[in-house]
Amino acid sequence: MRRAVYPGSFDPVTNGHLDVIERASRLYDEVIVAVAHNESKTGLFSFEERMALLQEVVAHHPNVRITQFSGLLVDYARQVQAQVIIRGLRAVSDFEYEFQMALMNRKLEGGVETMFLMPKEEYTYLSSRLVKEIARLGGNIDVFVPDSIARALREKFSR
Ligand code: PNS
Repeated sequence: MRRAVYPGSFDPVTNGHLDVIERASRLYDEVIVAVAHNESKTGLFSFEERMALLQEVVAHHPNVRITQFSGLLVDYARQVQAQVIIRGLRAVSDFEYEFQMALMNRKLEGGVETMFLMPKEEYTYLSSRLVKEIARLGGNIDVFVPDSIARALREKFSR
């Protein structure tokens, strides 16, 4: 059983994340999308909301499971018996942080390999942070996120 864990904040999930999930789901028997509890980052969406939104948009992938985790990612990967950590790599600017994290995770747990997947070129400029900013300022986010996420964002900012 080839199992991969795809960790992240997913606040909220974007078309870029979904593209990576789809690619990973074709490569592995099971993909565990794991929403990280990060004490130092307060999100727009709660963990429950992020998970529910993710659940909705991956429902058509039978081998994708949505979970959450706290603590070290490598401990979580070991706990769920994942051999691989998936990370999306958009541009050179992502590289330094991702490289450092991958090597640190390797040092912590040599049995888990990090695999980088590149989303479609049209998503290389996409980030949850920018999508939230555009939505907050009333811009059109329809091409960046699935319909349900766009609705959830509009609802958040209409309050
Ligand atoms: O979507 P993000 O915010 O880029 O995801 C970052 C994430 C969740 C992958 C990273 O912060 C993480 O792995 N957090 C868990 C804590 C941990 O293991 N830290 C040591 C990393 S070397």
